[in-house]
Amino acid sequence: MNRVSDLLPLPRPLVLAEDRLVILDQTALPLAERYLELYTPEEVFAAIQKLQVRGAPAIGIAAAYGLYLGLLPLAAGQQLVPATAVMDKAEYLASYLRSARPTAVNLAWALERVLTALREGLTAGLDARELIQVARRTATALLEEDNAICSAIGRQGLELIRRAAAERAVPRATSSQATGRPEADAADATGQEIGILTHCNAGGLATAGWGTALAVIYMAHAAGLPIHVYADETRPVLQGARLTAWELQRTGVPVTLICDNMAGALMAKGKVDLCIVGTDRVTANGDVANKIGTYTVAVLARHHGIPFYVAAPTSSIDMKLPRGEAIPIEERSPEEVTTIGGHRIAPVDVDVWNPAFDVTPAELVSALVTEHAILYPPYAEALKSLSNR
Ligand code: MRU
Repeated sequence: MNRVSDLLPLPRPLVLAEDRLVILDQTALPLAERYLELYTPEEVFAAIQKLQVRGAPAIGIAAAYGLYLGLLPLAAGQQLVPATAVMDKAEYLASYLRSARPTAVNLAWALERVLTALREGLTAGLDARELIQVARRTATALLEEDNAICSAIGRQGLELIRRAAAERAVPRATSSQATGRPEADAADATGQEIGILTHCNAGGLATAGWGTALAVIYMAHAAGLPIHVYADETRPVLQGARLTAWELQRTGVPVTLICDNMAGALMAKGKVDLCIVGTDRVTANGDVANKIGTYTVAVLARHHGIPFYVAAPTSSIDMKLPRGEAIPIEERSPEEVTTIGGHRIAPVDVDVWNPAFDVTPAELVSALVTEHAILYPPYAEALKSLSNR
């Protein structure tokens, strides 16, 4: 099958090669394009925790392959183990891999897909070797599906960029009206370029395909719309600077890198027509967990009257959680804050708070772009009908 992401000049973030998972080490980018070979679930777990493979859809797929790799030794002996032993091991591995990172629901979702396929295989009377192949095929199906989902999100979201382009054609004074700031750049307000701000990396690197938020951007660029992307650097781990800026540069999409604290000034200057980000989990009421700093962008966008869109594959929607407060937020090591690129920038032993994600309340989200449709508020109803499809 022709993978849509093959059309993009980007390396694949993860590929299965028989007895190992080969991942692009995202911690080495943009300085080096380095690949890691992972043979065991423990290696996959560590790569997910260290952000060598990252982004909600990508960690789900990596974990599914990790589960498969953990089952492989059961097929290695002369004697075939009972099929129930494969199922027991799979249940154990799924709960182990699920614990690698808590916020992205895609991790649990992908592992559950593998477990469900194995349970069905067990009921159908498959033997141990056949079950292990079911795990491999399911993980690969997840990867291929993700590829298709990303392009569908891109196609859906293109409509929003076209809308922004149509509005851009009309002289714009939104930022000065919204903020009452006379210094809003009047010349720029009549420009035709569509300014898009994004946070973190919801691109090809974070998925198996075009990305989610960046799929929309790639589609708009391919359609010839005059977009210009502003990438927040995304402290502390700099996914925006290291990954999004790299991806967009490589794919020829005009991009300007900004520090996170510059987004407000950029909006006040009238440079941003819309914001689009990815997500790690959307709850039943439409609250959105995404990379720390996303909430700040959403608040700034509301203040300036700029639409704030979230690209959300259905694998990131968690209808079991009613509201965002219930989302477990990963807290990461203080060193991510006290150092940059291995260099200490803060006093030794200073107290640090380092949540990896925040929650943007549904009321700040202008639309959710799923692979099936663009959802508008009220999200509770829209998400319910989507999940009943
Ligand atoms: O900590 P990370 O780099 O895994 O965080 C990733 C994000 O916050 C992404 O925006 C999200 O996973 C969506 S990726 C399509």
